[in-house]
Amino acid sequence: MRITVVGGGYVGLVTGACFSHLGNDVLVVEKVPEKVKMLKEGRSPIYEPGLEDLIREGLKRGNLGFTTDIGEGVAFSEVIFICVGTPSLPDGSADLSQVEEVARLTAKLMDSYRLLVEKSTVPVNTHQLVKKTVQRYLKRDVPFDVASNPEFLREGSAVLDFLNPDRIVVGVESERARRIMEEVYRPFTDRGVPLLITDPATAELIKHASNSFLAMKISFINMIADLCEKTGADVKLVTEGMGYDRRIGRDFLNAGIGYGGSCFPKDVRAFIRIAEEYGVDFSLLKEVERINSGRVERFMDKVRNALWTLKDKRVAVWGLSFKPNTDDIREAPSIKVVETLIREGARVRAYDPKAVSNFRVLFPPGDRISYPEDMYEAVKGAEALLILTEWEEFVKADMEKVKELMDLPVVVDGRNIFEPEEMKRMGFEYYSVGRS
Ligand SMILES: NC(=O)c1ccc[n+]([C@@H]2O[C@H](COP(=O)([O-])OP(=O)(O)OC[C@H]3O[C@@H](n4cnc5c(N)ncnc54)[C@H](O)[C@@H]3O)[C@@H](O)[C@H]2O)c1
Repeated sequence: MRITVVGGGYVGLVTGACFSHLGNDVLVVEKVPEKVKMLKEGRSPIYEPGLEDLIREGLKRGNLGFTTDIGEGVAFSEVIFICVGTPSLPDGSADLSQVEEVARLTAKLMDSYRLLVEKSTVPVNTHQLVKKTVQRYLKRDVPFDVASNPEFLREGSAVLDFLNPDRIVVGVESERARRIMEEVYRPFTDRGVPLLITDPATAELIKHASNSFLAMKISFINMIADLCEKTGADVKLVTEGMGYDRRIGRDFLNAGIGYGGSCFPKDVRAFIRIAEEYGVDFSLLKEVERINSGRVERFMDKVRNALWTLKDKRVAVWGLSFKPNTDDIREAPSIKVVETLIREGARVRAYDPKAVSNFRVLFPPGDRISYPEDMYEAVKGAEALLILTEWEEFVKADMEKVKELMDLPVVVDGRNIFEPEEMKRMGFEYYSVGRS
């Protein structure tokens, strides 16, 4: 099939590259010219395992292209995936201006049937607004459909997730749209991936409900961690004990410094606003958000307890991305942690395998923060090491060497990557989450 993808970010690039990998002809429209230039040279502007290989593969085969020209995108295919950003507005609701722009421009440019597919995460009933916008800006009377096809990939394993989804959700209103979407996803359904066809409102709601539910699990286990710290219980074992229960499951029950990233925080906020707009009291979600927003401060209390004051303390930070295997730092806990460290006078040496270049834009290197080349350089002479992301590299670190390099063997682990007993045996003063 011919497929147009609008938006060349984490979702758009993975969607485009994977659809081309499956044999479709794909054109990705991205409005930032520098990104398109890189992509045409076979370089990915973001780090996502396996993505650059797929981009190169598609370019070589000739069935993956990139352009800044939306006109080219609209002319290319009758199915247009909208993968642009839907960030938070100051009041927490989703900013839909990028989605509106794509709907408006597509309407002005299309001269025959088009199916606009919302892959961006949008509030329930956004498809009505997209439809209204297209109708308003259409130059001539041509038929069109709007479908919802929420994306469930996780950054860090996005390619794998896209190619091996637990389920595909498609919300359509017409038989024509249904047939096109079934065709797009035939390579998946042929190998047994469940395809749930719904109306667009239901599909839109499924995405916000799923993310909010996962965020709720994280906040839930973080409160259990607080209780463990007070009572001497061990949250990792509590999680294991709960996780064996199939009704509960083990995933998303890792206590730590809370959820971050470009999805959970904004999607929970947006879902709270949606419920309010429709007069539904979803105070449960407000509590999920309140718990999460207090996690960094609770972590910083541990750092202060360990170091007493932070002024002029040399603090190493391992992990800046919001999760491992990505360079994404949007709403990463590291931002608040580093902000607090610098505000309270510490000298920060920060290391991350992939996210340093993004982080340097927010915190340029200088007197208060530097970015050593590797994780061992970062801990040289440090009076504390803070672990903020559970990269495999850190899990496998030579901690004997780390201890030798540090001035004071203090580790505050926001991700519970080490065992307290083992750290104690090596001579570390070790603080983690939900374990005494
Ligand atoms: N990142 C994830 O893990 C993830 C997972 C599932 C769903 N989502 C949802 O998918 C959407 C996109 O997320 P993302 O992380 O890929 O965002 P992103 O910011 O990485 O990418 C969006 C891209 O769209 C481009 N863009 C904006 N307007 C455009 C236009 N008119 N024409 C062409 N390009 C345009 C931007 O320049 C940017 O490169 C969001 O709604 C998000 O909530 C994200």
